Amino acid sequence: PDEWKIALLGDGGVGKTALAVQFTTRSFIGESNTYDPTIEQCYRHGAPVDNQFCCFEIIDTAGQREYATLTDQWIREGQAFALVYSVASRATFERLELFRQSLFRVKRKQPYFVLVANKTDIHYNREVSLQEGKDLAEKFGCEYIEASAKTGYSVQKVFFDLVRILRAG
Ligand code: GTP
Repeated sequence: PDEWKIALLGDGGVGKTALAVQFTTRSFIGESNTYDPTIEQCYRHGAPVDNQFCCFEIIDTAGQREYATLTDQWIREGQAFALVYSVASRATFERLELFRQSLFRVKRKQPYFVLVANKTDIHYNREVSLQEGKDLAEKFGCEYIEASAKTGYSVQKVFFDLVRILRAG
């Protein structure tokens, strides 16, 4: 079977859970103020990608810094990765370099990953521009995807493109 483990990495609150939920249920988790940080959650989902059925196992990790010691374990578990930041928070963008370093340290061969700029529905207080995102992706040597877990914009593309990259292996 065509089955792939995809892990979402990124700072707390960037929308990793919201992306996984939007992809698997086509709905937004909402902006409730009872913000509940994830420790680790796994989602399973099946969908045809380019006419071939595929099973996704999505590992939604803890972005909170106190769980950083678990990052290596998630990287060992995952086959491909979405490095996620929020365009409304420069700190989350700056933290990606650490995740990228961990990826290259833990995976012996070239890791498969894309850069995801989430919360692009937020225009009024955007802190990280489109060009800065593209520049970082170029530096990382990966694809850049602007997405919104709220509207659903490009959410499917994140997961489908990772599967395409894995299949091309
Ligand atoms: P941790 O579990 O702490 O690592 O956080 P997370 O990355 O899983 O973030 P989560 O999905 O819990 O989202 C954090 C907050 O951002 C929630 O209040 C979401 O409703 C909100 N949020 C997530 N994605 C989007 C988005 O695309 N747009 C907007 N406007 N808000 C979003």
